[in-house]
Amino acid sequence: MLKLDLTGAQSFFDEKGLDFELAAKAHRTLSEGTGEGSDFIGWLDCPQKIKDGELERIIKAAETIRSRSEALVVIGIGGSYLGARAAIEMLSTAADKGNPEIFFVGNGLSADYLSEVITKLGDRDFDVNVISKSGTTLEPAVSFRIFRELLAKKYGAKADEHIFATTDAARGVLKTLANEHGWESFIVPDDVGGRFSVLTAVGLLPMAVAGIDVRKLIDCAIEEMSALDLRSPENPAWQYAVARQHLYKRGYSTEILAFYEPSCRFFAEWWKQLYGESEGKDGIGIFPASVEFTADLHSMGQYIQAGMRDIYESVVLFDESLSSYPVPFEETNADGLNYIAGRDLSDVCRVAADAVRDAHVSGGVPNIRINVPRRDEEGLASLICFFEVACGLSGYISGVNPFNQPGVEAYKKNMFRMLGKPE
Ligand code: PA5
Repeated sequence: MLKLDLTGAQSFFDEKGLDFELAAKAHRTLSEGTGEGSDFIGWLDCPQKIKDGELERIIKAAETIRSRSEALVVIGIGGSYLGARAAIEMLSTAADKGNPEIFFVGNGLSADYLSEVITKLGDRDFDVNVISKSGTTLEPAVSFRIFRELLAKKYGAKADEHIFATTDAARGVLKTLANEHGWESFIVPDDVGGRFSVLTAVGLLPMAVAGIDVRKLIDCAIEEMSALDLRSPENPAWQYAVARQHLYKRGYSTEILAFYEPSCRFFAEWWKQLYGESEGKDGIGIFPASVEFTADLHSMGQYIQAGMRDIYESVVLFDESLSSYPVPFEETNADGLNYIAGRDLSDVCRVAADAVRDAHVSGGVPNIRINVPRRDEEGLASLICFFEVACGLSGYISGVNPFNQPGVEAYKKNMFRMLGKPE
């Protein structure tokens, strides 16, 4: 399990300190299903259910795709997209490691982006995984129509064999199309909202195609979910949920999630949706932002150090680096770097993280550290489960329903009216 370090936040808490009774109460509400939105808490036992259910069929479909295609086009948006991209980028399972290249489309309406993807895809063999719980979301639906046409041109009568649909078990346009065309389909469970669906087929099929060991990921997630059920202030999800709500009450209304690994950029995007969509409602909510250190210290560093004092940072650090690069010794020392010659780059990075924490804390930015052993399947499982459980707790502590998202409909209504969609 990952570990939370609240040392850099302690001095920003009030004299009474953290009230863990809030977490205990929220945990009872979550696990007993007595809170608002409790028909969407199926993600709590998702890992075990998927292991007992679709996991082996997902792996088999991934093997089929890996054996015949050089690319997989994943079509989806929001919760039907970010988890898979976060995982694949975090574990860096890129095509140059012999895995099929994963392209993500349907996550916007840019014609230029779509055209670039189609150009990059070239004449390579590919499969399509279309992911939409509702089946009616405009962005993925439009992209899917375009890719169905491309598949039909390339594979003719066999095009349908290259389509895998992840959608509702029984309802929706996509489910109807899948039944009509015989596409292999996977389920987005009824009781799991998009942003909590990464450990269902939504995230797992693209991950398995990209070479992630999804059996290991799920086994680790089962253990994590059970460990995070601990009813104690020792539970890192309790600590995180209570600390962030405590800081929010004290005026810290923006949380910056920071990583020192560029491969985690999309994990931060996934986290932003998880917390933004779960907590930003009823006129309240911590604004989730993200930065990539040390790069953003040279762009956002000034603001974090000395701008509006309403931000706190949560920094994810991996205990072990996967690579090692000692700084070379150079006789002339013309660049003046011999003072760190022989030290590993990961060690230099760790020192930088300590220096940043001290600077930010002294500048008035509370610092929460999230220490994860390694950037591997186990680390990924522990981050996903930790953030999901903490999100449920934090939402209930703040008094909102963490599992709905009524606000996302407003732009859609306008857009459909302006595009002339029939009623
Ligand atoms: O979390 C959510 O509910 C949203 O991000 C949805 O996942 C997103 O809008 C995509 O919806 P759908 O899967 O129905 O296409």
